[in-house]
Amino acid sequence: MDRNVLTEICLHQLTLSGVHEGEKVIVLSQGSERLDYADAFLAAGQRLGARMYHVRLPAPLPGNGAWAVGETGLAANPEAVEALKKADMVVDLIFLLFSKEQMAIQAAGARVLTAVEPAPLLARLPPTKELRERVEISAEILSNAKIMRITSKPGTDIVYKLGVYPTVAEYGYTDQPGRWDHWPAAFVFTGGADDGVDGKIVLAPGDVLLPFNTYVREPVTYTIEKGFVQDIRGGLEAELIKSYMGEFKDPRGMGMSHVGWGLDHRAQWHGLTQFPGGMGMELRSFYGNVMFSTGPNNELGGPNDTACHLDIPMRACSLFLDDVPIVVDGNIAVREMQQHS
Ligand SMILES: [Fe+2]
Repeated sequence: MDRNVLTEICLHQLTLSGVHEGEKVIVLSQGSERLDYADAFLAAGQRLGARMYHVRLPAPLPGNGAWAVGETGLAANPEAVEALKKADMVVDLIFLLFSKEQMAIQAAGARVLTAVEPAPLLARLPPTKELRERVEISAEILSNAKIMRITSKPGTDIVYKLGVYPTVAEYGYTDQPGRWDHWPAAFVFTGGADDGVDGKIVLAPGDVLLPFNTYVREPVTYTIEKGFVQDIRGGLEAELIKSYMGEFKDPRGMGMSHVGWGLDHRAQWHGLTQFPGGMGMELRSFYGNVMFSTGPNNELGGPNDTACHLDIPMRACSLFLDDVPIVVDGNIAVREMQQHS
């Protein structure tokens, strides 16, 4: 992407994120990845009068094995963590999510923005105040609910008992101390009680499997009891899911993780076909998707920290909070959450 265009969209991002004169903003990168993003953020922050720094970690040593969520190059570099804790804002170009180091940086008061998706996607889905408002209204309603029920024509009918875990809102920028967000994003989620999720989820063709970055082609039926998946049945995708989960050799991978819905009218369900190298933020965000996940809930303060994590945005579902329809057949049903052009 053209350097000036990238700088302009980073300027928009940092402006919404409240970056101002005299603030200290650190851009964190690794190896040779996203150095163009780093340059664009540095230039943008400078224009806002912020004190800009770039912390660049070395590329991981060859032979370190597969990339795993929560393990970062910062773990071996406590001095860098200390420096980042002193920032007002950290722009994370590595993907620190679920790491102890990110938690420490936020606890010290630095807000953290992750930007790792392909630049054309960042350009197409810039954060907006209007979207933030709809996401925050959604989060407010979700945080007050006691029971979530999700249904679908292919046969999903599942109930989550709520009220144990907090609600998280992601809207793609962050202007509050210690708060993390991910660009692009527009969704809300919470988690069910550890033993309080029961029913069936039936994935339909076109539902999305992350991190496989593929679409379901044959129905997959999950049977869930007391917060754990008991059974997964179907065709090829069911076999792939079971095979992938089996690899972790961790029964906690069968736990039910976060659940919620997407609100970005600009995000496209077919996004995977346009950005095959991305990590699926567009798919988590598209308007009216209902996303459930399996695996860890430590992000919400729960005890399950398994590394086996799948996010599954589904189309055409209905979602009810305490019997009030929130999403109906894949459309947002609450006026204040709807996009008004
Ligand atoms: Fe997730």
